[in-house]
Amino acid sequence: MREYRIAAIPADGIGPEVISAGLEVLDAVCTRFGDFSFTIDHYDWGTDYYKKHGVLMPADGLALLRPVDAIYFGAVGAADVPDHVTLWGLRLPICQGFDQYANVRPTRVLPGVTSPLRGVGPDDLDWLIIRENSEGEYAGHGGRAHRGLPEEVATEVAIFTRVGVERIMRFAFASAQARAAKHLTVVTKSNAQRFGMVLWDEIAAEVSADYPDVRWDKELVDAMTVRMVRSPASIDTVVATNLHADILSDLAAALAGSLGIAPTGNVDPQRRFPSMFEPIHGSAFDIVGRGIANPVASFWTASMMLDHLGEAKAAKALMVAVEQVCAAGIMTPDLGGKSTTKEVTEAVCQAVRGANR
Ligand code: IPM
Ligand code: MG
Repeated sequence: MREYRIAAIPADGIGPEVISAGLEVLDAVCTRFGDFSFTIDHYDWGTDYYKKHGVLMPADGLALLRPVDAIYFGAVGAADVPDHVTLWGLRLPICQGFDQYANVRPTRVLPGVTSPLRGVGPDDLDWLIIRENSEGEYAGHGGRAHRGLPEEVATEVAIFTRVGVERIMRFAFASAQARAAKHLTVVTKSNAQRFGMVLWDEIAAEVSADYPDVRWDKELVDAMTVRMVRSPASIDTVVATNLHADILSDLAAALAGSLGIAPTGNVDPQRRFPSMFEPIHGSAFDIVGRGIANPVASFWTASMMLDHLGEAKAAKALMVAVEQVCAAGIMTPDLGGKSTTKEVTEAVCQAVRGANR
């Protein structure tokens, strides 16, 4: 019996709703396969915790997470606390503290889901976005001076290191190499940003030499938005900076049908630290407690987590189950369906029990 220890941090907004749905589905997966199991460490960190204790997680938070095999994260952010406080209090310290430098964001049009792009189905939009996750525009480098005075100034410095860029390029080329299309688009903005982005381009070219079977091209980030809309089938694997990929992945999720299905892995490819898996939709305060949060992103995320843990068969079975349920039209309102979180969850659990027999 293989045993995995998972830290669950549902945190804010619809996070608790979709993470409890995800844990239910993972339980069904364990029962279905019978040769591995999970121990879940539950953490109540997040904005409520912050209101009680003045911090989003305790000072020894990272030390508590360190021994787990993976982290299953919901969403952080609340209407009454500034977003930079919540983000820099919980999610980024975990991503950066555990050097989860590769943020992996697969995007596909799932069967039964309608893309807002006319005539675009599952075969036309199947992307893997790799987001640099440790530096760039999210390096946290900057500050404010002359606070509150007329001459106030603020800097927000994007950091690009040779080590940081090279490791994400290697990860991206290797990810592209593992896919059927073996194609990578390197997103850049080196026309306007002459230093960091030119280094980014140079290192992409250097690293490409080690992956001769991967075809690759370069696209400016603004032009990339057009290409994603106009010729989605020309795209396979994408690598972009922390901020560029943040923006492009929201667009990608919308083009694939809904932000409610988009998963992500914050991965330490070197496995020195636990990696963290989360839906990318965020807290979604507008639908909290209404029972209609789309759990598909958290299921897809759970499937990525299973893959990361080495349970490829279970990961596949879970995705097949999710696809069967979507294809059957059992979907939440963000996808045009009428089902609740609970109904989708039950349907996926049932499909897991029957999938791939
Ligand atoms: C994402 C999210 C986060 C980000 C937010 C919650 C800060 O938008 O994972 O894409 O910008 O990284
Ligand atoms: Mg985002």
